[in-house]
Amino acid sequence: MEKLYYPHLELFPNARIKSMDEYEALVQEFEKDYEGTWAKYAREKLNWFKDFEQTLDESNAPFYKWFVGGKINVAYQCIDRHLDSKKNKAAIIWEADNGERKVITYLELYKSVNRFANLLKNKFHIKKGDRVVLYMPMIPEAAFAMLACARIGAIHSVVFGGFSADALRDRIIDANAKLIITADGAFRKGKPYLLKPTVDKALEEGCESVEAVLVVKRNNESINWVEGRDYNYNELIKEQSSECEAEIMDSEDPLFLLYTSGSTGKPKGVQHSQAGYILWAQMTMEWTFDIQDNDTFWCTADIGWITGHTYIVYGPLAAGATTVMFEGVPTYPDVGRAWKMIEELQINQFYTAPTAIRMLHKLGADEPKKYDLSSLRILGTVGEPIDPAAWKWYYEVVGNGRCSIVDTWWQTETGGHMITPLPAATPVKPASATKPLPGIFAKVIEKDGTPTPIGEKGYLCIVKPWPSMIRTIWNDNERFKNSYFGECVYEGKPVYFSGDGAMVDELGYITITGRVDDVINVSGHRLGTAEIEGAAKKHDAIAAIAVVGKPHEIKGESPFAFVVLKENQESSNEELLKEVNEIIKEEIGAIAYIENLVIVPDLPKTRSGKVMRRLLRAIAKKEAIKQDTSTLEDPSIVQAIETIVKNS
Ligand code: WTA
Repeated sequence: MEKLYYPHLELFPNARIKSMDEYEALVQEFEKDYEGTWAKYAREKLNWFKDFEQTLDESNAPFYKWFVGGKINVAYQCIDRHLDSKKNKAAIIWEADNGERKVITYLELYKSVNRFANLLKNKFHIKKGDRVVLYMPMIPEAAFAMLACARIGAIHSVVFGGFSADALRDRIIDANAKLIITADGAFRKGKPYLLKPTVDKALEEGCESVEAVLVVKRNNESINWVEGRDYNYNELIKEQSSECEAEIMDSEDPLFLLYTSGSTGKPKGVQHSQAGYILWAQMTMEWTFDIQDNDTFWCTADIGWITGHTYIVYGPLAAGATTVMFEGVPTYPDVGRAWKMIEELQINQFYTAPTAIRMLHKLGADEPKKYDLSSLRILGTVGEPIDPAAWKWYYEVVGNGRCSIVDTWWQTETGGHMITPLPAATPVKPASATKPLPGIFAKVIEKDGTPTPIGEKGYLCIVKPWPSMIRTIWNDNERFKNSYFGECVYEGKPVYFSGDGAMVDELGYITITGRVDDVINVSGHRLGTAEIEGAAKKHDAIAAIAVVGKPHEIKGESPFAFVVLKENQESSNEELLKEVNEIIKEEIGAIAYIENLVIVPDLPKTRSGKVMRRLLRAIAKKEAIKQDTSTLEDPSIVQAIETIVKNS
């Protein structure tokens, strides 16, 4: 059997879960009294304005409701309740691209968020339930804006700054947003870049709901200004009072929307709740990251993704921790940047994506050794499967063979971690997410609920509802039901299917094998192949296209396109790739660039016309074709495509 890595217990004297026995005991507690145990934690961890009456309402499944009747405010949970004991503790340490730092204490955070909240209320008349879209760089004002929305009960929807104007527009329209909060731009690798022009372009058509654009001046580059629509944050904020009462919110009121990719073209507005979400954000900080009062926690995600929401802003602040927010990239001014930050800030938990780990490994395998990284206790990874080689380098070189690695499996829809090692308890097998957290009933099953045999691939499902789960897809209850509860049943009930495949080993550990739907994971960014295809189809010469994921040394996966040209059209692979990527840049953003493109005579289709993607995936990987191809409409096409790919 493979070697297991045991925790160095001396690093975790105050861990909440100290052994696998304690872990098992907690799992049992949830098994015996599911609702009672969740209720106990909700009462212990959250500051309620009014206690809840019912823990879990399953009457309208899968539209589950948690902590029904409870009243709460997430900004209060993240800020106000800490003021008595840690008002001058650093809440956020922000490091700029150029290395400048800003320390924001809990008291300062309280004032900044209140001023922001007052600005939203007084100037823009934002009320409870209104949607506010954030298109922001990694600056403290992004966190202030999120928390200000939470404070007044507005629903934020953060759109990742790498998305194009078209992608931003789609999200604004779907959310029917009243206000956009953005910045002129920010700095990356020593140079200013812009965001505001993308907002201007997005608003050119169809965004009738938008009344105003609030612009934070970060780099003071010259930008276009629409009088009467655009407002200068830096000026307006000065007039606002630093006191703003927290809105009394219902447990189940929406806290935020976050758009993510699914297997069809249109992105889904994943809707999260107040109480359930913040409870799990806080609890996973304690369980997975062993967060202690004097710790400094650094998650390198962008706030445009769920990881940034839960583990830069909401989780660390709800836990009363110090969270690091970084504007730049870990390779500027050199590949030692991240290690230097860890040394200087004495980071205790470092949380990043396998793509970053592979890149830092490749560019400077020995670089971490030049720095004192002894403050680290926990190294986290998220977003895509990590390969054993990257895992070992992370463990041995970055963690110096002593830190616990937590390979956290979760999703935008799950709100927080689902399956992960516990740093002071779980013996870890490299590249396995190991076991579900207590309270999370994750199972690898067949579609009918039968457990998948050990060592075989099955569907990764969560068979009981949990507090931080997605509540619905904004404006589309049907799609919510079909996307997540339409595929798998367990004990006769539809259960949440993640879209991922997984395997269980003889230890009961779960290893994620990747998406089984048409979603690919490029550098930890989740992209729907249908979305990429939809964009590419706007190219005049393209009759049909299928995009699949191909393994990539650094990015994990990269998009590989098979294209059929319209009659009488001609192009070369290189030329078409360039043109298609121009369109993708406009429609989605550079994050979705196609890496390889081949022009083929036709796509392999079944007689009913379904494109055989599995076949294309094998061809893209240059694997031998094992599938039976005799059922294809034209079996000879497979060989033709294989030859084209071989010669490309
Ligand atoms: C993948 C990111 C393997 C998975 C938090 C999932 C992972 C998708 C892991 C969600 C992991 C996330 N090991 N794969 N530790 N964590 N994934 O919504 O395919 O951006 O379904 O959430 O990332 O991506 P999302």
